Amino acid sequence: MGREITKVGVVGLGTMGSGIAEVLARSGLSVTAIEVDEGCAARGRGHVESSTERAVRKGKLAERERDALLDRIRYGTSLHDLAEVDLVVEAIPESLELKAEVFAQLDKITGPETVLASNTSALSITEIGVHTSRPGKVVGMHFFNPAPVLRLIEVVRTVVTEPEVVTEVTAFAERLGKTPVVIGDRAGFIANALLFGYLNHAVRMYEQQYATREDLDAAMRLGCGYPMGPLALLDLIGLDTAHEILETMYHQSRDRLHSPAPLLKQMITAGLLGRKAGRGFYTYE
Ligand code: CAA
Repeated sequence: MGREITKVGVVGLGTMGSGIAEVLARSGLSVTAIEVDEGCAARGRGHVESSTERAVRKGKLAERERDALLDRIRYGTSLHDLAEVDLVVEAIPESLELKAEVFAQLDKITGPETVLASNTSALSITEIGVHTSRPGKVVGMHFFNPAPVLRLIEVVRTVVTEPEVVTEVTAFAERLGKTPVVIGDRAGFIANALLFGYLNHAVRMYEQQYATREDLDAAMRLGCGYPMGPLALLDLIGLDTAHEILETMYHQSRDRLHSPAPLLKQMITAGLLGRKAGRGFYTYE
């Protein structure tokens, strides 16, 4: 080990993947960002451009730095473009089948020392890692939404992750300006295991017309000092993503706390996915 991570890959450029690509490029790394087709890659590029534009507007990033950051990201549609990278962060949709396929391919394409990290929120890193010939070099690297703003990275180690890889990835997280915490491979890791029971409970309270959405959210913002209320936060996370996370945690824990509130499913079926769809618990421009 001891090699320096300079070239990194990101697979999947949705909300999380594009935010992660931005964070990596901001730290001076050269990033190869992969999506399934040109259209999705262009959408990912759009996310990075608007997020960095916002950072410039807010005085968090100089225009010159923004331009250099954007130049450090190369977009592509083939995993073969990742042959030379030192680390890959995968951020594709939360399907074990899809992730297993991507990891099996990355295992063949990348060098044997390349660390393969997943940004999964709730799937098992162990189950992803067994689809490679190097489960010792597979870890979780879980960012929080919005990735450019929130400072935590959960580094998830399995029973076979090499200790040097955990050390390397935690040091890398610090280099990105983030604070790493290390956790074993358990559904929800630390933050989601604590957060999602609360979010689900808020949906149930809303469903039972216990209080209006505005009052539910105001109570937690103004009474508990949370930056956002639970329903607004669900809109930010995406109701489909939240539902997937709850299902996975419920499947593992059988704790009723994590049994998804029926309203969540109904809203997803109706296309009310949250901010990304323009409407969830609230409506967005
Ligand atoms: N780069 C750097 N800084 C940026 C930025 C970027 N691309 N975009 C925004 N910022 C900065 C802004 O300049 C601002 O900084 P100041 O506070 O110093 O002015 C700060 O980030 C906040 O941005 P905004 O002013 O635009 O927005 P806000 O003050 O309304 O905060 C929020 C928005 C950051 C989303 C805040 O409400 C928040 O933290 N909410 C809670 C989010 C949360 O809990 N996320 C976790 C979800 S769970 C998860 O992600 C895990 C999972 O697996 C699903």
